[in-house]
Amino acid sequence: MGGSVYRIARDNRLPTFLDAWVPRSRSVPAPALGRPVPVGRHAFPGPNDGRGLLAALSCAAAMVDRRGRYLVVGAGPSGLAAARWMTACAVPFDLVERQRDVGGIWDIQASGSPMYESAHFISSKTLSAFRDWPMPESYPDYPSHRQVLSYLRAYADRHDVRPRAEFGVEVVSARPASPGNGTGSEWLVELATGERRRYDGVILATGLQWIPRVPAIPGRFDGETLHSSAFRTPALAQGRRILVVGGGNSGCDIAVDVSRTASRAFLSLRRGYWFVPKHLFGVPADVFGHRGPELPRWLEQAVFERLLRLLVGDLARLGLPAPDHRLFETHPVLNTQVLHALGHGELTVKPDVRALRGPRVLFADGSEEDVDVVIFATGYRRVLPVLGPELHREGDVSDLFLNLRHRRHPTLFVLGFFETDAGCFPLVDLQAELVARLLRAQRDAPARLARFERRSSGPPPDFSDGVRFLGVERMSNYVRSRPYARYLEQAIRELA
Ligand SMILES: Cc1cc2nc3c(=O)[nH]c(=O)nc-3n(C[C@H](O)[C@H](O)[C@H](O)COP(=O)(O)OP(=O)(O)OC[C@H]3O[C@@H](n4cnc5c(N)ncnc54)[C@H](O)[C@@H]3O)c2cc1C
Ligand SMILES: NC(=O)c1ccc[n+]([C@@H]2O[C@H](COP(=O)([O-])OP(=O)(O)OC[C@H]3O[C@@H](n4cnc5c(N)ncnc54)[C@H](OP(=O)(O)O)[C@@H]3O)[C@@H](O)[C@H]2O)c1
Repeated sequence: MGGSVYRIARDNRLPTFLDAWVPRSRSVPAPALGRPVPVGRHAFPGPNDGRGLLAALSCAAAMVDRRGRYLVVGAGPSGLAAARWMTACAVPFDLVERQRDVGGIWDIQASGSPMYESAHFISSKTLSAFRDWPMPESYPDYPSHRQVLSYLRAYADRHDVRPRAEFGVEVVSARPASPGNGTGSEWLVELATGERRRYDGVILATGLQWIPRVPAIPGRFDGETLHSSAFRTPALAQGRRILVVGGGNSGCDIAVDVSRTASRAFLSLRRGYWFVPKHLFGVPADVFGHRGPELPRWLEQAVFERLLRLLVGDLARLGLPAPDHRLFETHPVLNTQVLHALGHGELTVKPDVRALRGPRVLFADGSEEDVDVVIFATGYRRVLPVLGPELHREGDVSDLFLNLRHRRHPTLFVLGFFETDAGCFPLVDLQAELVARLLRAQRDAPARLARFERRSSGPPPDFSDGVRFLGVERMSNYVRSRPYARYLEQAIRELA
């Protein structure tokens, strides 16, 4: 092993390679002490650019006063929605992004992006757009990652976001100026350059798919290992024996990709899943689901399970384990190409991995396979690296009202900190509108804010729709999109 920064250390411990994964911002010229930070005009000094280094050092001790403003961190879909709504509600803000442009994970060129060449949306263009900006008619039902990026950049331009953003600026920490502070107090933000700034509040839009989760598997592996976030094309599989671990959408997409060029391709699953075709009766699956009447949960599960059994057939014939849960109890897999690859014998299903044994991998059923490359498509850690443990614990949303506003620190917001059963852009759009309207109400209409505060001090709303989610980490921040959207819309109406 070795070579690529993305390869996983033999002992599978994350910190050995995590640093290489998390993009570091380039130095950014320092603003003059106490003056407003110029936005959107930063050069990108290279690593050997002495001016950048000097500037960074000279501002290390300075505290830049940005009180009266909020800081939005990240210019992916969530950060763009935040900028759009903060502008619309006339709430002053700065926007920083560690990459060179907007787009978040959808920019495959962005350092650390988990995107791969074959990736297409799993939610349809029809139901995945921001509310004021439909995806182009010319797009297919499930746009490619490049089309999604173009869409996002057009949305950014429509709302004039780019000139307001500071690119190449990474936030390393955000904390309240005094512990236990409340509305209207201050936040201290530290940048990778060492620069420190003071804000009225912070809106994190830093995304959930940047920090890989890799299981610790006993034993030693002589081959190559990587996480799905480092996978770009199936070129690495050419003529080799590949094992993909994990049956989420990444695992299934990548298993299909490598099955075409590998000499053997295996997909290890620790449970069975429901496989949902991307089209049902000629329309995208989510459009089909939304067209019909809203059914009670038990009936919805019964109807769609029956439908999938009819359409997809007996999964056991393909070597797949039967789902150990009801439909909707875990995140759906929108992929039937994997069934096609299994049906063609280009891919073989294996159970959970039990141990690594030099050139071989041992599985839970006692079988062993010779493997050259293991790709861990085992998901991402639900962490907010800029917050200390006193503000957020990994995977825990109990401190975030609506997965969105910190319960003890009402001027701290986290956008996009959820997984859901539908396109997430319409939901982050609603989240961002709610945040901007809350901040405006805080300034202009405290009575309206009081109504929201009563909501947030009550019992946490239930966004499961009565579905018992599986007790796995990836479901820890899950919301069903319909009740979640409805709640956000209602809260927005009360503030508007
Ligand atoms: C392969 C793949 C396919 C997907 N397909 C779909 C789909 O079909 N439909 C769907 O709705 N969702 C899909 N998703 C989910 C995806 O997370 C969302 O579409 C969306 O990108 C979330 O937007 P975001 O802005 O919250 O996060 P991100 O897109 O991750 O953007 C976060 C931004 O914050 C920046 N940032 C992070 N930390 C810092 C920091 N400390 N300082 C400064 N900047 C920082 C990052 O550089 C990034 O630009 C998919 C995810 C993956 C991995
Ligand atoms: N085409 C697309 O649009 C597309 C493509 C890729 C990803 N995405 C999205 O990106 C997000 C992340 O997807 P993802 O597939 O990367 O991650 P994910 O949804 O978290 O799936 C992780 C998979 O790994 C398994 N797993 C986790 N820990 C494991 C362990 N210790 N041992 C064995 N298996 C383990 C999980 O099993 P359990 O089910 O048992 O937990 C699950 O099958 C999702 O929202 C997804 O929809 C979309």
